[in-house]
Amino acid sequence: MVNILLVGSGGREAALEWKLKQSKLVDQVFTAPGNAGSINNLPYGSEDIHRLVDFAHEHHAFTVVGPEAPLSAGLVNTMEDDGLEAFGPSKEATQLESSKIYAKKFMKRQNIPTPEFEIFDEYDLAEKYVESRRPGVVVKADGLASGKGVFVCSNLEETRSALRTLLIDRQLGSAGEKVIIEETLGGKEASCFFISDGNQVIPFSSAQDHKRIYDGDKGPNTGGMGCYSPALLSQDVQDEVTQIANRTISGMKHEGVPYKGFLYLGLMIADDKPHLLEFNVRLGDPEAQALLPRCSSDLFPYLKACVDGDLPKMEPMDWTRRHSVCVVMASGGYPNKFDTGKKISGLTDMSVPQDVHVFHAGTKKEDDNILTNGGRVIGVTALGDTVRAARDVAYVSVSRISWDGEYHRKDIASSACKEQ
Ligand code: AMP
Ligand code: GLY
Repeated sequence: MVNILLVGSGGREAALEWKLKQSKLVDQVFTAPGNAGSINNLPYGSEDIHRLVDFAHEHHAFTVVGPEAPLSAGLVNTMEDDGLEAFGPSKEATQLESSKIYAKKFMKRQNIPTPEFEIFDEYDLAEKYVESRRPGVVVKADGLASGKGVFVCSNLEETRSALRTLLIDRQLGSAGEKVIIEETLGGKEASCFFISDGNQVIPFSSAQDHKRIYDGDKGPNTGGMGCYSPALLSQDVQDEVTQIANRTISGMKHEGVPYKGFLYLGLMIADDKPHLLEFNVRLGDPEAQALLPRCSSDLFPYLKACVDGDLPKMEPMDWTRRHSVCVVMASGGYPNKFDTGKKISGLTDMSVPQDVHVFHAGTKKEDDNILTNGGRVIGVTALGDTVRAARDVAYVSVSRISWDGEYHRKDIASSACKEQ
């Protein structure tokens, strides 16, 4: 039996904790720092690398890192250098997410289909370039920006404004000192997940996120307001996406930066062909909350096989054919300013139907109360034989949970219900 040290505090980590606790090989799951839903919380998070290393030694723990920031800061490297086992990519490999320029150049070298792009670090040159093109481009900051670094611009004025924000006003600091200007693609978005040991990949199913704050995909981008899983993709598209994942892993190995961990491909499906928009070096959030309840395999042996370079010994993972829908409940005002400390009610309602998972994200415990403590507060995932069935159950459960100022989208998975 092994202990798990799970690093992070969001809904993704809540879903990972729930899943890993079911493993026959796992004794206890400790979360650093966790939230009000997690059982064994440590009083520190990823900023305290030395205490995490000490804890992992003392408890013979296998570390699983959820978010991108500690991965990009090299937490897995530090653990490995200390002789510990940790699941996730190295600092060098996280450049696939932490630098969009690194990612786009890599895609080009590996012949991975992706929208055409140019790189700029000066406003005047960038402006001249967009003036010479048809309007309608996407401007992206090079560095990590929690979803705030991408501007889908429909006309020249919006493009100038995005370029000014990044290159002149430096609103994202060094993350925006270089930008990509990319061709806009129309189509259907999908997120496809894999796990890798550096040599090969095993598919980890797919999901469709809803990134904008308001119904009808209006308003600013967020970390994700809800999703459904699996994404509704043809077998041909799924096969091509798996080829992209394989090309990524073999390309990284060939370039001397082997990639181990979860791999997240953010895709646009245009004319029934996948085009890669971005890599992420982790599971998505809320996607993990919709994916993991559909996974019937024991997760831990797969994570261990990735760390050991033993993935070829493993069978493909089992995924239920059922559908899941996750609705995120957020603090009013998110993704901008919002209040915290609101008392949440309805969480202990015993009439929550079977096949529903209530995952905590921005929550904290105070005395006997559970209070809001972040932008995205609770994720409610339901399973069903159809997307519609899962969606209906998810929304019934959402309606039982409340706090002052609670906000959620009312249209998660509604277009998928029509498609299915
Ligand atoms: P990214 O972080 O690169 O995935 O971009 C965030 C979001 O911006 C994506 O999920 C898309 O909705 C949108 N987006 C990014 N690149 C493009 C593109 N080339 N064409 C159309 N939409 C895009
Ligand atoms: N939900 C999008 C992400 O995790 O990046």
